[in-house]
Amino acid sequence: MYKSIRGMEDILPGGIRAWQSLERIARIELESNGYSEIRTPILEETAVFSRSIGDTTDIVTKEMYTFVDKKGRGLSLRPEGTAPIVRAYVEHSLHRISNQSRLYYIGPMFRSERPQKGRSRQFHQIGAEIIGSSEPQMDAEIIARLSDLLKLFGLEAFQIKLNSLGCKDDKDKFSGKLKNYLKGKKNKLCADCNNRLEKNCLRVLDCKNEECVKIVKDSPDIADNLCGRCGEHFGKVKMMLESYFGVQFVESKKMVRGLDYYTGTVFEVTHPDLGGQDALGGGGRYDNLVKEFGGPNVGAVGFAIGIERVFIALGDKKDLFGSPGLVYIATLGGDAKIKGRKLAEELRLRWNGFPPPDGRLYNLNVVTLLDWTDASLRSQMRSADRNGARVVIILGDDEIKQNKAAIKDMENKEPQFLIDIGSVVDEVGKRMGLC
Ligand code: HAM
Repeated sequence: MYKSIRGMEDILPGGIRAWQSLERIARIELESNGYSEIRTPILEETAVFSRSIGDTTDIVTKEMYTFVDKKGRGLSLRPEGTAPIVRAYVEHSLHRISNQSRLYYIGPMFRSERPQKGRSRQFHQIGAEIIGSSEPQMDAEIIARLSDLLKLFGLEAFQIKLNSLGCKDDKDKFSGKLKNYLKGKKNKLCADCNNRLEKNCLRVLDCKNEECVKIVKDSPDIADNLCGRCGEHFGKVKMMLESYFGVQFVESKKMVRGLDYYTGTVFEVTHPDLGGQDALGGGGRYDNLVKEFGGPNVGAVGFAIGIERVFIALGDKKDLFGSPGLVYIATLGGDAKIKGRKLAEELRLRWNGFPPPDGRLYNLNVVTLLDWTDASLRSQMRSADRNGARVVIILGDDEIKQNKAAIKDMENKEPQFLIDIGSVVDEVGKRMGLC
């Protein structure tokens, strides 16, 4: 028997509603704040990632699914969404369309990490980017957006950690300082960090090895070594978060994040229920990437949230998400089938707003399933039960002649009762808590 690849999971119909609801909330929230969706391919040239995330980072050196195609091109499954979006932004000259592109994406990412709780090889992100501005307002907006989204998902106990890496000059100068500090402690650092020390010293700050963490504890802090401009920028971001958006955060002076493209503000959101893999999301500013990809010299900032981790943090609350009630319509006879079809449409229109009269997004409160078979009522009721029906409407030709339908509430197990057909839509709404 075939199985899905370890670390890559099927999302089955039983669990998909929560995904759809979460995605719908994200779409409405982001679209209504002026962000437009962008969908880039899942495969990119490997250089798109190695040149941006950095060819000494763990993601690029250890975690990418990379292969050479028949034409000899090096391709990789995307480990994240930012680099492909910058590639698309430059390729399609999106800066000509608007001075600030607010973009969002939802989709699978791939990293070949050792699977464990909260860490998989195919996982999903919701991300947003503002490309076209270096203003601190944008950093504050993007962090506030991230915080608002998590609240809309029903999360409360998360913590936003904030730091600044400064501009490229700051990063280079600080790297030198850090290298000096670490040089004398070389023999205590892990093998990976000894390597990092030469190639990409800042990465040592990100190491999870116990000994390295201890050594790094007393190292100089990057945010204390910023140039005037970067210090001022960071100060404004913090002020705006507090006073414009009322977003709480803590400064995390050792945080550098695992991707090299960041300059200036970086942030990460953690949640206590996530255990070892405690980051719900993260992001930051990457002011050099658009230019490095051949585009204009414009700043950018963004975030990504890990959807699987949101579900872990939600725990049982996840079940509250989008579990629309199933209304099963059992029919006995030809007239009942015709009436049933009409009733199903009325139910969807009334409770879901579908078909949407003006093309707006609709809510999925009610799912209707019309039984077209000529099976006995008993067998149709059994089928309703197995499909998880919340309410069953029973239509028989005799009842229809008297303008009546029977309702069976499957939750409270009361006996079925007859009502006027004209009251069925309201009655179903009441039973499902929709009015
Ligand atoms: P990242 O921190 O690498 O940032 O990933 C963002 C989030 O994706 C993480 O906080 C986590 O929730 C989730 N995630 C990452 N790896 C895994 C995994 N193996 N399994 C499950 N979830 C995972 C980025 O990807 C940047 N592109 C964010 C960004 C956007 N920066 C600027 N704009």
